[in-house]
Amino acid sequence: MLNIAVIGAGRIGHVHARTIAGHPKASLALVCDPVGDAAEQLAAPYGARAAKDAEEAFADPKVDAVIVGSPTPLHIPHLVAAAKAGKAVLCEKPIALDMADVEAAQTDLDAISTPVMFGFNRRFDPSFAAVRAAVQEGRIGALEQLTIISRDPAAPPVEYIKVSGGIFRDMTIHDFDTARFFLGDIVELHAVGQNLDPAIKETGDFDAAVVTLKAASGAVATIINNRHCASGYDQRLEASGRNGALFAENIRGTTVRLSNAEVTDAQEPYLDFFLERYADAYRLELSAFIEAVEAGTTPPTGIADAVEALRLAEAATTSARTGEVIRLAS
Ligand SMILES: NC(=O)c1ccc[n+]([C@@H]2O[C@H](COP(=O)([O-])OP(=O)(O)OC[C@H]3O[C@@H](n4cnc5c(N)ncnc54)[C@H](O)[C@@H]3O)[C@@H](O)[C@H]2O)c1
Repeated sequence: MLNIAVIGAGRIGHVHARTIAGHPKASLALVCDPVGDAAEQLAAPYGARAAKDAEEAFADPKVDAVIVGSPTPLHIPHLVAAAKAGKAVLCEKPIALDMADVEAAQTDLDAISTPVMFGFNRRFDPSFAAVRAAVQEGRIGALEQLTIISRDPAAPPVEYIKVSGGIFRDMTIHDFDTARFFLGDIVELHAVGQNLDPAIKETGDFDAAVVTLKAASGAVATIINNRHCASGYDQRLEASGRNGALFAENIRGTTVRLSNAEVTDAQEPYLDFFLERYADAYRLELSAFIEAVEAGTTPPTGIADAVEALRLAEAATTSARTGEVIRLAS
């Protein structure tokens, strides 16, 4: 049984607290959040303790592991402090808003010796993982083209967008990791940003984007993102290879279809939003973390993966602003 503290009682903190509480090998020990009674409100229903200061989690000998779900600028400070205190860490994406922040903390990051995993939950989505496993098994021959579609049902508040680091660091970062999961090293990137929402445009960010990535193997990935989608949380993936193709479709609550005089084959909306759509992925991500900590093995998504995803996000930001094709060292 792993005793886990959650740092940050916001949206993702709720996801992790619920996932820990439902996991047979995990126990929610503590929730830390300095704002109002957010920690208390999240901790109480699970019988966990609450604290304002994250230091309480690092100092508590009964806490084995920490999940960092605080705002992005605090990820490195919280990750480093937790690891220095000997805790295993599952840290949310992105590792930082800026590669400069990663480089400034390089010595501390290199010194980490406890298990560290990053929250690229989509690697653990059963459908995406099954597509990847089939590719690895050679079911479609050599992978030639990967298409990742990720559209949110609605944009987050403008106040969130302003401090998010931009669409590529905040949203596309998941897709950059998925592309690397399938294709390995990326050597070339081109991004096109769109301003479909005037309120988001005012913040200086894009609210939709298309990114193409070329891998060292010659395979190409296309990522299609939008901060809004009229039909809900649109999460799909297609892998096309020499000898076939694999498709992971959207997921609905039931398989019920309605046909009547106005419509045929109408289905329920897609599962909405990340809490529901990726509930299995968060559970399997936590299982992979616990398994690695218990077995003393390296967790599947480490600091290097987080840094590479951020590097791609920075390259995409530059590409979308300048129109340049960015060549990356492989
Ligand atoms: N993997 C995913 O699917 C996923 C989904 C959503 C968010 N995220 C990531 O999780 C992080 C948090 O996002 P969110 O949407 O939950 O944000 P949020 O604003 O809802 O929650 C952040 C929480 O952290 C708290 N906080 C601020 N300073 C703190 C401190 N010093 N110590 C402890 N807590 C502190 C805030 O009070 C707030 O409750 C972001 O980096 C985001 O990119 C990941």
